[in-house]
Parts: sequence; C-alpha cells; structure tokens
Amino acid sequence: MPVPSIIFPADPLNPRRPDPHFTWEARLTRELGGEHHLVDHDALLAGHAEEAVRRVPRGSGPLWYRGWMLPSGRYAEFAAALAARGGNLLTSAPGYAAAHELPGWYGVFEGATPPSVWIPSDGTAAPTPAELADAAARLGGSGPAIVKDYVKSRKHEWHEACYVPELADLATVGRVVGRFVELQGEFLAGGVVLRRYEEFERTDGPDRDGAPAAAVAGGDGRAVEARVWWLDGRPIMVGPHPDAPHQRVEPDLTDVPALVRRLGCRFVTTDLASRADGSGWRVVEVGDGQVSDLPRGVDASGLLASLIAA
Ligand SMILES: Nc1ncnc2c1ncn2[C@@H]1O[C@H](COP(=O)(O)OP(=O)(O)O)[C@@H](O)[C@H]1O
Ligand SMILES: [Mg+2]
Repeated sequence: MPVPSIIFPADPLNPRRPDPHFTWEARLTRELGGEHHLVDHDALLAGHAEEAVRRVPRGSGPLWYRGWMLPSGRYAEFAAALAARGGNLLTSAPGYAAAHELPGWYGVFEGATPPSVWIPSDGTAAPTPAELADAAARLGGSGPAIVKDYVKSRKHEWHEACYVPELADLATVGRVVGRFVELQGEFLAGGVVLRRYEEFERTDGPDRDGAPAAAVAGGDGRAVEARVWWLDGRPIMVGPHPDAPHQRVEPDLTDVPALVRRLGCRFVTTDLASRADGSGWRVVEVGDGQVSDLPRGVDASGLLASLIAA
C-alpha cells in the first residue's frame, strides 16, 4: 500500500519552496520520513487547477493537503486536476464541503452546537429585511446572536460585523449583517448564517495560568477554545485554538467522537468552548483538517505522522 504524501502551498515568490507559513510543517513532514509536494495556491484560486498542480508528480497516489482555505468549488477542481494525474486526495470534494461549510456539518452536530439558521446567497448582495426577519424568527426571534458566513466570521470586528445584542431589534440585525456582507465582499462564502449566542468562558474572563487573559486574544466577547484534530474518528491532537496558542485547555470529548464519525470525513477539526455556567462543552465550529490552522509552537509531529501513515 502506498503511503500518503502531503501537498503544501508553494511560496509565491519562490515556487520551489513551501509558503513560509507552512515551512515548518513541510520540514517536519520530511523529518518524519514523509514526502511533500507543492501547489500554486493563486492559480488554484484563479480557477487554473491544472496549472496549479503541475509540480505534483504524476502517479503520486494518496494525498493530503495542508494549506490555505479554498472555496468548495475550487477544492473540487483541485481534486479533479490531481485525479487526472493519478493523485488521490483522501478527502473527497463532497467531504471537504461537508466539514468546511456550516450547512454541511450542522445537521450532524445539531444539539451539540449553538442553534443556527442560514440564508443562501448567490452573490455579494445582503439579505433583504424580509429574509432577515424570517431568519431571526426561525432562530427564536429574541436574544443575542452571532453573524458569519458558511465558513468564517468577522470576529475581529466583533461589535460592528459579528455580534447582534438582540435579535428582536431587526434594524440592528440588518446593520450588523449589512456591514458583515460589505466587509466580506467577494469572499462571502455560501450565504449568511445567524447563530444563537451562548455564554462561553471568555478570553477576557478570569486569569488562566496566571496570564493576563485579555492580552491573549482580543478582549471582546470571544470564547476560550480548544481545537481537536480528528483522523478516522479518533482525536489525534488536542490543543489550544491558534488565536490563543498559549491557553491551556482540557475539553470533555465524551460526545464528540460519535458525531465526527457520523459526519464521515476522515480528517476534520472541531473547535470546542466551555459554557460559562459550567454545564459542559459545546462545538463552536467544525472544519476540514487540511485547511485548519495549527497553533504556533505546538508539537505537530504526532499529527503529521498519523497523516502520512493513514
Ligand atoms: N454561537 C456563539 N455563541 C457565542 N460565541 C460565539 C458563537 N459563535 C461564535 N462565537 C465566538 O465567535 C468566534 C468566531 O466564530 P467562529 O464560528 O469560530 O468563526 P471563525 O470561522 O471566524 O473562527 C468564536 O471563536 C467564538 O469566540
Ligand atoms: Mg473559529
């Protein structure tokens, strides 16, 4: 059985080297006895998948990707271009979309993640007031909420484009969603998602490890999160979220493996946050493991060794 290689984005300035953000992962892969190849990320994004994969040798067999996020349609083109050269991405295009986009994983994780509704969009226009009123009603019609698209939020513009204090205040819902859509621009992924806001342990809460927590990440309403990496339904790494790489986290994983297995994707991440009232851990977000960022300074050798042995 051939073992998988890993594809990393190439450095745009030096296409024979990995992108500087991924250099350490590529080096670690080699040190572990694995092989890696390079892809031209800009060409992939521009819709030139065949050109993008020209440095991947023909007949490369099983492949993982570790790189920048791709829209699901671009990932499908990437997978097809590799398949045409005898390369087999171990996460299929439908599998990627299922883990990468909230509507793809929500049905499986419903109950373990904040209640959510979404408004599909086929362009860059904001939802209409009627669509927003309908979505707010489907979410219960009152209480605080979070705005994001199928993939990302604007958490760094928390008050302006992420947090809705009161769903019943439809003017504010419209303002926050409108600003979110404007800032996402052409990068709006899929549509607008509204999620019920839940109180989690926060980065600006009481000190953990004696560190000034507010200095660690933001100091807005964002949660302390653990990022759990799963391969074939088993947690292969449990660590901090990349936004707060020095935070110590010990999530309760009791209920998560069954959900991850039901999703049916081999390599995924789950970001977990602990409820502020101590009533347990919640899944904030699911992601495709190939495009989830690794926190700086973690020991990723177990993770990469598992991938190249999978
Ligand atoms: N339903 C929610 N309740 C409370 N906080 C949330 C909720 N959803 C997201 N957040 C906070 O907002 C941040 C960004 O949301 P997330 O869904 O992880 O988007 P992103 O893809 O941009 O990381 C999270 O890290 C968390 O702190
Ligand atoms: Mg997140």
